[in-house]
Amino acid sequence: EKGGYDYFMLKEIAEQPQAIADTLRGRLAETGEITLDEVRLTDQDLRDVDKVFIVACGTAYHAGMVAKYAIEHWTRIPCEVELASEFRYRDPVLDRSTLVVAISQSGETMDTLMALRHAKQQKARVLAICNTNGSTIPRESDAVLYTHGGPEIAVASTKAFLTQLAACYLVGLHLAQVRGVMYADEVAAVVEQLRGTPSKVDRVLEQMEPVRELARDLAEAKSVLFIGRHVGYPVALEGALKLKELAYMHAEGFAAGELKHGPIALIDQGTPVVCVVPSARGRGVLRDKVISNIQEVRARGARTVVIAEEGDDGVARYADHLIVVPPTPTLLAPLVTTVPLQVLACEIASARGHDVDQPRNLAKSVTVE
Ligand code: F6R
Repeated sequence: EKGGYDYFMLKEIAEQPQAIADTLRGRLAETGEITLDEVRLTDQDLRDVDKVFIVACGTAYHAGMVAKYAIEHWTRIPCEVELASEFRYRDPVLDRSTLVVAISQSGETMDTLMALRHAKQQKARVLAICNTNGSTIPRESDAVLYTHGGPEIAVASTKAFLTQLAACYLVGLHLAQVRGVMYADEVAAVVEQLRGTPSKVDRVLEQMEPVRELARDLAEAKSVLFIGRHVGYPVALEGALKLKELAYMHAEGFAAGELKHGPIALIDQGTPVVCVVPSARGRGVLRDKVISNIQEVRARGARTVVIAEEGDDGVARYADHLIVVPPTPTLLAPLVTTVPLQVLACEIASARGHDVDQPRNLAKSVTVE
């Protein structure tokens, strides 16, 4: 049942290219038009949206953080992302022109469900992004976009995360298209890039041997820090979450630019710091800023694990360990940069002798608030 893999998690990591492709399938017309057929909101409803709130927990929240960058960039609608458990208790400003996007793999997470109910009481429109057909969250939403990731058995979320990202990109592009803020050819160009991501994930998966070796090296570390900027920041948070939940190690993700405001004091001789480097193309400025941040941590003795784009020859000199991923447009990059971090956490946990599929204290779906 594990398809020859030691753990469901490894099997699910390997299924990611297919899971992304399945989530995109049927929603991209040849013209580049995006159709979201399960969305029972009219185009006019979507044109009236003046604010988007994304609510979710854990890994799904990290997908929401990435989505905020894409949705604001493509649609020009203000978008906030909030932990579902915090959302309803602070009296958020919602009305019928607010679109609340609830992201949940299981569709049963109580915190997310309560946030959704609160949003509905305030007359907001609710769109669910969910992996489980007929579960409570999509049933109570005005609209649903299912991720077609297939069942996720391992407690730690992997393929659900990448499919949530794919679904969020579709929502962003659809909104931009309906509201006329992106031309059809611009949407089509992003769609083409999205279609190319499953084969890029495949290529990342083919190159995981150095990550396995690195995992054995890092298994005794006291703490591992993760840094990133822009969409690399939620990727850093996700890498740290995976390591905490599977390996029971202290791990923390930071916005790379925040380090100098305090957390850099944590860095000591040999502290492993995993650095997610943005694409050198497009917004090269982001990449250069992260390189300066890497230099800052190295100057304090950090041992750096650098995730960077193939062909970015300048980064090697800042990396004690270099992991390369295929070049991917900035906003879509989390689809590839997350993958080595999933494998790293899984292999470190396994090297420490833990049950990767059933980490202690955790359940696959969290149905209490
Ligand atoms: C982490 C993980 C959790 C879930 C979170 C939300 O690997 O699995 O953080 O992402 O509990 O669960 P769903 O998506 O089912 O609402």
